Amino acid sequence: MAHMALARALGWAIFVLLVTANFAECIGVNWGTQAAQPLDPSMVVQMLQDNKIHKVKLFDSDHWTVKFFAGTGIEVMLGIPNDQLSKLSHYRNAKDWVKQNVSTHIYDGGVDIKHVAVGNEPFLKSYNGSFTHTVFPALKNVQRALDEAGLGDKIKASIPQNADVYDSGSGGPSEGNFRSDVRGLMIEIVNFLKENKSPFLVNIYPFLSLYENPDFPIGFAFFDGNAQPIRDHNVQYTNMFDANLDTLVSSLRKAGAPNLEIIVGEIGWPTDGDVYGNATMAKKFYDGLFKKLVASKKGSPLRPEPVEVYLFSLTDENLKSIAPGYFERHWGIFRYDGQPKFALDFSGQGNNKMPIGAKNVRYYPSQWCVFAGAKDMNMVIPNLDYACQRSDCSAMIAGGSCSKLDKNKHVSYAFNMYFQMNNQDFEACNFQGMAKIIEGNASTSECLFPIAIESAGGRLENGIGVSILVAILISLVFF
Ligand SMILES: *[C@@H]1O[C@H](CO)[C@@H](O)[C@H](O)[C@H]1NC(C)=O
Ligand SMILES: *[C@@H]1O[C@H](CO)[C@@H](O)[C@H](O)[C@H]1NC(C)=O
Ligand SMILES: *[C@@H]1O[C@H](CO)[C@@H](O)[C@H](O)[C@H]1NC(C)=O
Ligand SMILES: *[C@@H]1O[C@H](CO)[C@@H](O)[C@H](O)[C@H]1NC(C)=O
Repeated sequence: MAHMALARALGWAIFVLLVTANFAECIGVNWGTQAAQPLDPSMVVQMLQDNKIHKVKLFDSDHWTVKFFAGTGIEVMLGIPNDQLSKLSHYRNAKDWVKQNVSTHIYDGGVDIKHVAVGNEPFLKSYNGSFTHTVFPALKNVQRALDEAGLGDKIKASIPQNADVYDSGSGGPSEGNFRSDVRGLMIEIVNFLKENKSPFLVNIYPFLSLYENPDFPIGFAFFDGNAQPIRDHNVQYTNMFDANLDTLVSSLRKAGAPNLEIIVGEIGWPTDGDVYGNATMAKKFYDGLFKKLVASKKGSPLRPEPVEVYLFSLTDENLKSIAPGYFERHWGIFRYDGQPKFALDFSGQGNNKMPIGAKNVRYYPSQWCVFAGAKDMNMVIPNLDYACQRSDCSAMIAGGSCSKLDKNKHVSYAFNMYFQMNNQDFEACNFQGMAKIIEGNASTSECLFPIAIESAGGRLENGIGVSILVAILISLVFF
């Protein structure tokens, strides 16, 4: 009897251990590195482990970055950028790619690569069909190369799609189908994924629906259940996430792949650069999402089991293109320096605790570059534009955290961003004699004037020229 009680107690203990260890198995995170000073991969590994996040999605397969995930127990999804697709539509190149970028990490104690994301939203309407003819051949070639390397059972290739590849016309989610201009191709892709037991990857953004459509009912973007429900036959939808996912489920049914696994490759909410982009809204979104998926283990009406999701994104990226909107550089759950922005409980229990930030971050000295005054204000504008075009002024846009600064402080903000993103280079704080370096904190209670971090992977040269819009807008508004 005593043995049985012991066995039972032990069984219970193991059960509790398993449940708590797996509480957030459906949560992964995207890590993009389009920042002037990206965090070092070793810090990112530590952050993921501290926050018990066991899956990461990357946008490339940079060898130096990927090798840091060896032996960490973190599952990795590698990415292939769209500009590599035409190359990979030739099998020899796909074979080389797998050899150099996948096989090399697969050894005892190596990297736990589980997926390869081929391209990124290749059928986006704004690409004008540029990748339509190369992405499917690339997908097939990469998977075949994985198969021939003996990795195909474990590593699955797929294509991250924007949710605009399907829609429901004027009907509800049950009317979902793939977009007519790519439907034939999508059906072929879906059936290839099905045969290969690969997942369908889709990016879902309730924030963008709200941003693009002022009439979008705001409650529908969140998970409180108090939005005006949308009826679809016998089903009621109270949030966009469920409606969107079920539109995909209906599209897959029509394509002959009703049970294809779905992974949400990107989902998140930005915290700056837009009126709806702030930490309060982001927290509300994530709290609702985690409560539903992790704590309640709920999926959508047509897919009742919770889907796996990759949050977008781990950190802010101050060199991302702002063409889609100024919020693009503020998707991070963590700031540029790996410090948390708001309380977040990945277990969905709603505990009000901060996620664990990056450790041992090395900052540049506490010094800021600010506007020192000018005799002729007309001289300031070209310098302001210069600084914004080559750094990041997206927080100064209407609704942004730095939009309420006065004229002089605006110029200081731009000068400081340029100075910090250039690693506090002394010569980056000149601006024809209109700038000076100070040691007093130039931040206000709302607007952070950041101090750059030391980084092993600086990438400033990629970002030049992408900020022209912000620069022009800011000088138009303020001068
Ligand atoms: C491996 O990946 C890197 C980074 O994405 C890329 O530059 C390189 O060309 C790839 N190798 C092959 C053979 O394609
Ligand atoms: C798509 O076409 C539009 C309009 O012709 C053009 O402005 C845009 O640059 C094109 N985009 C790409 C990626 O080719
Ligand atoms: C966040 O955005 C919402 C929607 O625009 C707004 O109502 C709210 O006041 C904002 N909160 C903060 C703290 O800025
Ligand atoms: C500057 O002040 C801001 C706002 O009070 C604060 O968040 C930040 O940590 C300060 N920076 C430094 C380097 O002390």
